[in-house]
Amino acid sequence: MLSINNLRVNYGAREVIHGINLEVRTGEIVTLIGSNGAGKTTLLKAISGVNKITGGTIEWKGERIERLAPHKIVSRGIAHVPEGRLLFRDMTVFEHLEMGAVQAAAGKQSFAERVDWVYTLFPILKERHMQLAGTLSGGQQQLVAIARGLMASPTLLILDEPTLGLAPTVIDQLTDTIRELHRTGLAILLVEQRVDMALSLASRGYVFETGRIVLADDAAALLKDPRVKEAYLGV
Ligand SMILES: Nc1ncnc2c1ncn2[C@@H]1O[C@H](COP(=O)(O)OP(=O)(O)O)[C@@H](O)[C@H]1O
Ligand SMILES: [Mg+2]
Repeated sequence: MLSINNLRVNYGAREVIHGINLEVRTGEIVTLIGSNGAGKTTLLKAISGVNKITGGTIEWKGERIERLAPHKIVSRGIAHVPEGRLLFRDMTVFEHLEMGAVQAAAGKQSFAERVDWVYTLFPILKERHMQLAGTLSGGQQQLVAIARGLMASPTLLILDEPTLGLAPTVIDQLTDTIRELHRTGLAILLVEQRVDMALSLASRGYVFETGRIVLADDAAALLKDPRVKEAYLGV
């Protein structure tokens, strides 16, 4: 469904992504593992069109998208939930949902149906729909960020470090949420510092080091891989 071939991304003269290949198949959870500064966010932003690329191709459902503007990519069904959530503290939960719907993929559910859908997934957001995002807890803010992404009716959801700064019990809830989203048929590309969690959710994973993929395998195999254990699982 998503197929990235020999992708290169620069910041100015400095190349940060050095020609990577990556694939996400229909309905699959794929995780991208790597230390801080490896280039994970840079790659995700290249997929969603926020970062311009220097070379290579990004194919989505058989069409090249690497030169499209971000809003066009959203309307084709790729929603990006950014690192740090990037909510507007003085906007309500509902206003975030409206914002997420602006570039929704065509021909799916109506706006009202999508609102119902995300409120069914996240009942707490229905309760708090008039509350300002800045007054919510960190976990609730993350749900708003995900819900905003879902309002675009995506077939691929990109999650960049969704558990960052959250308490362990909230992280467990978020893990269940991601499983539930996956059950609805959504494909998910997950970047996550909690590598054990990410590999327990994903079917496959890629290990990223300074702009290169150094390992790609089934999640179960990565969990057992001595290199992954040593570098990312602390065992
Ligand atoms: N907007 C930017 N301008 C210049 N350099 C950047 C920018 N964003 C990130 N970088 C650099 O690119 C590299 C990869 O960063 P990033 O993709 O954020 O890594 P990760 O998400 O894996 O932690 C880092 O060295 C970082 O300092
Ligand atoms: Mg990052």
